[in-house]
Amino acid sequence: MEGDNYLWRIEWRDEFLVGDPIVDAQHRSFFEEVGQLRIALLADEPQAKFLEYCDAFTDSVRTHFAEEERLMERIGFPRLREHRFEHALLLTRVEEARREIAGAACLLDCMMATRNLMIMLVEHLLHEDMRIKAHLRGQAAAR
Ligand SMILES: [Fe+2]
Ligand SMILES: [Fe+2]
Repeated sequence: MEGDNYLWRIEWRDEFLVGDPIVDAQHRSFFEEVGQLRIALLADEPQAKFLEYCDAFTDSVRTHFAEEERLMERIGFPRLREHRFEHALLLTRVEEARREIAGAACLLDCMMATRNLMIMLVEHLLHEDMRIKAHLRGQAAAR
């Protein structure tokens, strides 16, 4: 399906930049890490190895959410509560995806779980994190 191919190929674009160097570096590295997960799957690496990558990715997501929440506090972002809630929900879903991958019977199931993970994170970036960008821009314009 063309849509699936598109998602697998989704790459970092500068329009995803929020305007904070740490948060932007973390977002950028998600794309690399998901790319590595995909390569590990296609290379048919042992499942234990793949799960190690998943765990490292989950840790990166957790660290990133904490960092982004600190940024939102710092800049007085008005939707902090909602955004924090969304992060907690996403983290639960990242952990669920990790469990799905651990229990997957075949490569296709692993790929589907990884793909779903990627869709969730990209959608969050495009819809929620971009509000932080707009807020930062508004603040800069008001100066
Ligand atoms: Fe976020
Ligand atoms: Fe983010």
